[in-house]
Amino acid sequence: MILTNNSTYPIGLDISDLSIKLVQLNKVRDKITIQALGKLSLPKNTINKGEIINKPELIKAIRKIVSSPAFGKTSSKEVVACLPESKTFIKSIEVQKSPNALIDIIGSEIEKHVPLSKSEIYYDWQVIKETTEKYFILIGAAPKEIVDQYTAMLDEAKLSPVALEIEPTAIARSLLKEEAPNLKPLISGTKNKPEIGINYGLIDIGADHTCMIFYSNNTILFTVSMPISGGEVTAKISKALALTKEQAEKAKIICGMDETKANGVIKEILADTVKNLVEKIKEAIQYYENYFCEHGALNQILLSGGGANITNLVKIIGQELPVEVRLADTLTNLNEDQARFNKFFTEKHVLDIKTPKLDSKCEEKSLSIKQNTSAAYATAIGLALRGIFIDEY
Ligand SMILES: Nc1ncnc2c1ncn2[C@@H]1O[C@H](COP(=O)(O)OP(=O)(O)OP(=O)(O)O)[C@@H](O)[C@H]1O
Ligand SMILES: [Mg+2]
Repeated sequence: MILTNNSTYPIGLDISDLSIKLVQLNKVRDKITIQALGKLSLPKNTINKGEIINKPELIKAIRKIVSSPAFGKTSSKEVVACLPESKTFIKSIEVQKSPNALIDIIGSEIEKHVPLSKSEIYYDWQVIKETTEKYFILIGAAPKEIVDQYTAMLDEAKLSPVALEIEPTAIARSLLKEEAPNLKPLISGTKNKPEIGINYGLIDIGADHTCMIFYSNNTILFTVSMPISGGEVTAKISKALALTKEQAEKAKIICGMDETKANGVIKEILADTVKNLVEKIKEAIQYYENYFCEHGALNQILLSGGGANITNLVKIIGQELPVEVRLADTLTNLNEDQARFNKFFTEKHVLDIKTPKLDSKCEEKSLSIKQNTSAAYATAIGLALRGIFIDEY
């Protein structure tokens, strides 16, 4: 018999419109470490707004990343994948207590909160709080059509989907210590709940969409979509400076909101987008304060996703809000040494300034940046942690 320490935990697979990210974790003697990690860009129109358009291309990419990730080796056919954020629903609702079973009460309420009929969705729920008259419940729902599409695709890729998750659940699991089983109650709303007491706003800025998650007392309260995406920002720079998409992408990553880079020309282009984002965050906080005041003030905002790396974004948002704003630590629930992964998380970008509108703004011949991309792995790490955390209950 061969004894190995290979992980038997499912692979976390974050499938987005433009990329796939994979993380497989292992747990040995209470230490959670990364066994495999990788990222692969998807050709345009493989997936569009979460709908699989080119299934053979997607399967090819998934098989490639599973068989040869950038770091390590995978050792399971089981996967936990996420459903496209734009297609899923997560919401906290209140329902009156009645002699009927809770499952029946929710069944009759769900259609009021989801724009699809009950027969068209799969849904799940969790009690957040209970009073003498009411239940406060978090519901998550996804169209059957999308769930079935992703399940069939993963089956065809010769993988075994053990769960398809709603993305905010995975993001919270990756970024918050409160999600680790030793701090989390078995059933939300029960008395053994530790009151860590920090109320969070988690903002994941992706290539295609951005979502803000409000989290308090060990549960997601609600999510709000935000008016910024990496793709839109790149398109804006490309249009304003007549750059190719590739040049605009590099200009965005290298300069961001840094006024010392390219004389602040990129910062100027991004200013409106960032201003709108800040406004929307303020509105979302206002909503939180109006409807969830018993949880107390929002204490901390954590930014994740590739777009969280926009130079100076954390600082600018922090200056505009009376809340502490930080770059999220996607390794917070792992026992990993960041340094071991520097090589895999570090990306270098170089932009030759021989472009019509930029070269007049720069004294240098080229601009470059090295950045740590671990913030983009929030969802994939959260998905991979699911198997480990559930195993510990
Ligand atoms: N330093 C940076 N400054 C600005 N944008 C950045 C930086 N680094 C990465 N990005 C952007 O982050 C985006 C990719 O982020 P991420 O990998 O989280 O998205 P995704 O998960 O593929 O998309 P989504 O979650 O929207 O489906 C790209 O638009 C990329 O340009
Ligand atoms: Mg993402």
